[in-house]
Amino acid sequence: MNLRTNPPPIPFIDVAAQRRRLGSAVDAAVARVLSHCQFILGPEVRAFETELAAFCGARHVVTCASGTDALVLALRALGIGPGDAVLCPSFTFCATAEVAALVGATPVFVDVDETTFNIDADGIAGAIAIAKAAGLTPKAIIPVDLFGLPADHDAVWAVAQTENLVVLDDAAQAFGATYNGRRLGTFGHATATSFFPAKPLGCYGDGGAVLTDDDGLADALRSLRVHGQGRDKYDNVRIGLASRLDTIQAAILMEKLKIFPDEIEARNNVARRYSDELGDIVMVPRVPAGCTSVWAQYTIRVGNGRRDALAAALKAEGIPTAIYYPIPLHRQQAYKHYPIGKGGVDVSDRLADEVISLPMHAYLDSATQDRIVAAVRRGLKK
Ligand SMILES: Cc1ncc(COP(=O)(O)O)c(C=O)c1O
Repeated sequence: MNLRTNPPPIPFIDVAAQRRRLGSAVDAAVARVLSHCQFILGPEVRAFETELAAFCGARHVVTCASGTDALVLALRALGIGPGDAVLCPSFTFCATAEVAALVGATPVFVDVDETTFNIDADGIAGAIAIAKAAGLTPKAIIPVDLFGLPADHDAVWAVAQTENLVVLDDAAQAFGATYNGRRLGTFGHATATSFFPAKPLGCYGDGGAVLTDDDGLADALRSLRVHGQGRDKYDNVRIGLASRLDTIQAAILMEKLKIFPDEIEARNNVARRYSDELGDIVMVPRVPAGCTSVWAQYTIRVGNGRRDALAAALKAEGIPTAIYYPIPLHRQQAYKHYPIGKGGVDVSDRLADEVISLPMHAYLDSATQDRIVAAVRRGLKK
């Protein structure tokens, strides 16, 4: 009789472990909202916005219904619309380019850097040239802080200043990360983030926020998220949306924010261990000097067509992996007609073929991580 049992499957992100740690604090926070019944823009929303602003040093935080809405609201508040070009990377989640199209503008794709996977500032001028040649007015750039790592904000800002572009940072995956000692949320003209449950700071549903130091922009955002309201919601001064963060989600996020610094440290410990144990055998992520990551993903590169075999080998051992992103945006049906910057997007294409993300969360214990590392090493030697 074969008594060998398979080891238990490993979760890719263990939301339940965090839920156990937070325990009754979240239950009590939700119960408070259930008793005061101010479900839309209740007191917890304002309190959370204040705490989040203090956490990252931004002057204003305007929460909303999702990270996608945060980007849309910011583009609308920045006055981006038809005839405008919005530069963004092709190697990102679709929402980054989707929002440009949603406000009637045209996304123009820029390639990313081979090591950081973030927008390559050297490609911006070529994208501007293509946009102008297509009769568009280059107005904005959306750098993305992919997988939790800040983009090169100084380099992006320098080109944006020269070219007169507004900068909207897409920090959906990287809230909490730092660049030159400052947390994201304070770079560019505005920053958008997401509280989708799988994000480093996630809620128990959809949620997002725009962060900015600009008073006028913050006023416009607060108006836009409530149907473009003026003095009140029956005074409509602009075309807006219904996009608020639910009070219950704000209450949950306040509890999560308390443990967030600790979780960021735990994620960094997990990432360090992966890199120490795998760096000799595969291309592991590199964090540039002056940056910290919050490790939304821990993503290695496996070339020569060996990636899918590795994923299959790990799956057979109960270890999940994910591929972000198998098809870059410039190849997606919905986006392939949009312009690509002069330099092309070869790196994006290459990354799409080679990246693979390993389980990553703040509650990944050493024994489980050892199991993943051993399986990856075995899988790569096959
Ligand atoms: C880079 C990026 N931008 C925007 C978003 C959109 O956020 P949400 O899912 O909250 O709308 C995401 C979410 O996955 C993302 O990863």
